[in-house]
Amino acid sequence: MGANVIMVASGKGGTGKSTVAVLLGAELAARGRRVLLVELDSGLRSVDYIAGVYGKTVYDVEDVLNGRCEAGKAVVESPVYRNLYVISAPYSGGHILPAALRVFVEKVGPVFDTIVLDTAAGMGVPFEAAMGVAHRALLVLTPDPVSIRDGRIVCDALEAGGCPEIRLIINKVPRTLANCGIQSLDECIDTVGAQLIGVVPFSTEIQKAGATGAPLAPAGRPRLALRAIAARLCGQYTPLVIR
Ligand SMILES: Nc1ncnc2c1ncn2[C@@H]1O[C@H](COP(=O)(O)OP(=O)(O)O)[C@@H](O)[C@H]1O
Ligand SMILES: [Mg+2]
Repeated sequence: MGANVIMVASGKGGTGKSTVAVLLGAELAARGRRVLLVELDSGLRSVDYIAGVYGKTVYDVEDVLNGRCEAGKAVVESPVYRNLYVISAPYSGGHILPAALRVFVEKVGPVFDTIVLDTAAGMGVPFEAAMGVAHRALLVLTPDPVSIRDGRIVCDALEAGGCPEIRLIINKVPRTLANCGIQSLDECIDTVGAQLIGVVPFSTEIQKAGATGAPLAPAGRPRLALRAIAARLCGQYTPLVIR
């Protein structure tokens, strides 16, 4: 059987797609799954930092898709998260061809349990390519009006593209929504029109790691939130409120 393919998407940039992709991949890996995380955001790499594989990659996803190297040569195991394997995006832009991505997923599918495709913001080439192979999409947004509006547009595009399942992750949620420009998280869910799968709190630890390029190994509530999302993806009931 082939791997379960999950794409991570957003409307607005910087909502935390790559962060969520790595931490969720790590939690699925911790549950015993072999996880391949492929970063498709050409020219705007960040997964290599977050997963701690910076400087360890020679080949990238375009080398693999264009047949310049075997997939095995581009795959690097994260030194931070066991069982999480990463293929980085190229340093400079290029095209991810949907047909090539499909062939790649079919080829490596039997080797992994889950393939996480970390896309770029909006509905460009990586988004289209990922949508062609994904079994479900995780739409990551932050609790603010622009992110919600853009999330709605992407959700509509996923529905129009026939994506079998769309689930919402609200990331960077502060303790109070007083300065967010929205009344409640229900507003995000109702406006976007997708079922919620998890809420990840704003974390100064994640923010600091992002600012310094340090690999991410957060503890506490953000970790528990991602662990709960991984459990839900595996079909396990997990309450929404984390205490
Ligand atoms: N839950 C969070 N709390 C605080 N900062 C976060 C959180 N999630 C992501 N970030 C920060 O937001 C920035 C953008 O995250 P990133 O994952 O690169 O977004 P994207 O892939 O959507 O562009 C990074 O600096 C990252 O550290
Ligand atoms: Mg990213």
